[in-house]
Amino acid sequence: MTVTPSTWNPGSWRELRALQQPEWPDRAAAEAVVQRLRTSPPLVFAGEARALRENLAKAIDRRAFLLQAGDCVESFNELSTQRIREKLKIMLQMSAVLTYGATLPVVKLGRMAGQFTKPRSDAFELVDGEEIPSFRGHMVNSDEPTAAARIPDPQRMLEGYNQSASTLNLLRAFTKGGYADLTQVHMWNKDFVASSPEGQRYLRLAEDIERALAFMAACGIDLAAERRLHEVDVFTCHEGLLLDYEEGLTRRDSLTGDWYDCSAHLLWIGERTRGADDAHVEFFSGVHNPLGCKLGPTATPDDAIALCERLNPLRVPGRLTFYARMGAEAVRDLLPPLLRAVRDEGHPVLWACDPMHANTIRTADGTKTRSFDTIMRELEGFFAACWESGVWPGGVHLEFTGEDVTECLGGADDVLEEHLSSRYETLLDPRLNARQSLDLAFRLAELMGRRPS
Ligand code: PEP
Ligand code: CO
Repeated sequence: MTVTPSTWNPGSWRELRALQQPEWPDRAAAEAVVQRLRTSPPLVFAGEARALRENLAKAIDRRAFLLQAGDCVESFNELSTQRIREKLKIMLQMSAVLTYGATLPVVKLGRMAGQFTKPRSDAFELVDGEEIPSFRGHMVNSDEPTAAARIPDPQRMLEGYNQSASTLNLLRAFTKGGYADLTQVHMWNKDFVASSPEGQRYLRLAEDIERALAFMAACGIDLAAERRLHEVDVFTCHEGLLLDYEEGLTRRDSLTGDWYDCSAHLLWIGERTRGADDAHVEFFSGVHNPLGCKLGPTATPDDAIALCERLNPLRVPGRLTFYARMGAEAVRDLLPPLLRAVRDEGHPVLWACDPMHANTIRTADGTKTRSFDTIMRELEGFFAACWESGVWPGGVHLEFTGEDVTECLGGADDVLEEHLSSRYETLLDPRLNARQSLDLAFRLAELMGRRPS
C-alpha cells in the first residue's frame, strides 16, 4: 500500500504549475482524446506494477540490481519487430552478464512501449535562420524541422497509445514465448557483436551458463519444469511527462481500489519537472505505481527529502527510485550529501545511476555525443559514493539501442569523432550501441564484484 492524499484526483494536477506541457492549439480536441484514452483498455495491469515494486524492494535490500535502459525517445517511424527484438536481445545479454558476474537477479525495465515525449531546455530552436518550436517527442509533434510540423497535435496521443500496445504485445510474446529462454543464451549474441572481443567474452560466459545448466540437469533437477529458466519479466517505463496522456490512462484497480497509471509499470519524473509543489509530483503522488525521479546537480538534500515525503510518505520499499545524474566530475562531491540525508531520514529509496544525461557534450560541428569513458567514470563515482555512505548502489539507467549505431564515443569499439556521422540515428540523445552496452555490462559486473562485504 502507498497512500493517495484525500485532496488528490487524477485531474488535481491541473490546479498547479505544469512545466513542459504542449500548448494544444485546440483544447477541446485534446480533451476529446483524453476522454477516448479514459475508455481504452489499460496497457499494463496493477498486479504487474505491484510485482515490479516488490522486485525493486529486493534491490533496495541488496538482493537484486536494476537494469533500466532503452531509447532516449522512441519513434513513430520505427515500430519494427526487428528493432524491438534487438533491444530485448541486448538487454537479455547484459542481464546474463550481470546476473552471472555479480550473482544477483537483475530487474529488467525497458524504456520502451511509451517513451514518446521529451522535456526540452529550449522551447525553440534555430533552423536555417528561422526560430521554430522544439521537437517534444512523437506523442506531441513531428521531428521534421518545419514550423508547421512542430505544432502539437493531440491525435498523436492515440497513435502513441496504439504503438505502445503493439510494442508491449510483442515484448510479452518474446519474453514469455521461448525467445528469452535461458537455453537460448548463445543465440542472443548478435552477428556483428559475436566477432568482437566483448562478443567473444560473452560467448565464454554463455558456455559457462550452459555447463551450469547441464550440471543441474545431471543432478536430477527438472529444468524443463522450472518456469524461471524459460520466461523472463521485462517491465516497461517512460518519463511521465505528458500529463494529459497519463491522466487518460489512470484507472482504479478493481482488486484494491487504488489508482494506477496503466500506461507503464514504472513512471519517472524528469530533472526539469521534479518541483515538489508542481503538477508532476502532485499527479504521481496519487497513483500507486513504482516511481522514479531524476536528481541532477542542482538537487539539494532538502529537495530529496521533500520528494520522499510527497511521493512515498508511508515509506513503502520499492515505491521510489532516485536516479542520480550528476556528471562524472561532480558525482563524488554532490551525491554523498543526498545519500546521507535520505539514509538518515530512514526513507527506503532505491539509488540508481543515470550516467548519461549530465555527460552530454557537443563536438566541434555541433553533434551531441557522450564518451564511454566518461559514462564509466560517473558509474565508478556513483558506486564509490554509495559504498562510502553505506548505501546499496542498486541499479543503472541507460540510453542504448540494439543497433550498430555510432552515437557515443569510445568503448572497446573505439568510435571516434570522425565516425559519428556514419550511423547517427537517434532522434535526440546519443545512445550506447550494442557492443558498447555489452562492454559496459562486463565492466559493471566487475565493479559490483568489488563491493565491500
Ligand atoms: C531522459 O531520461 O531522457 C531525460 C530527459 O533525462 P533528465 O530528465 O535527467 O534530463
Ligand atoms: Co535522453
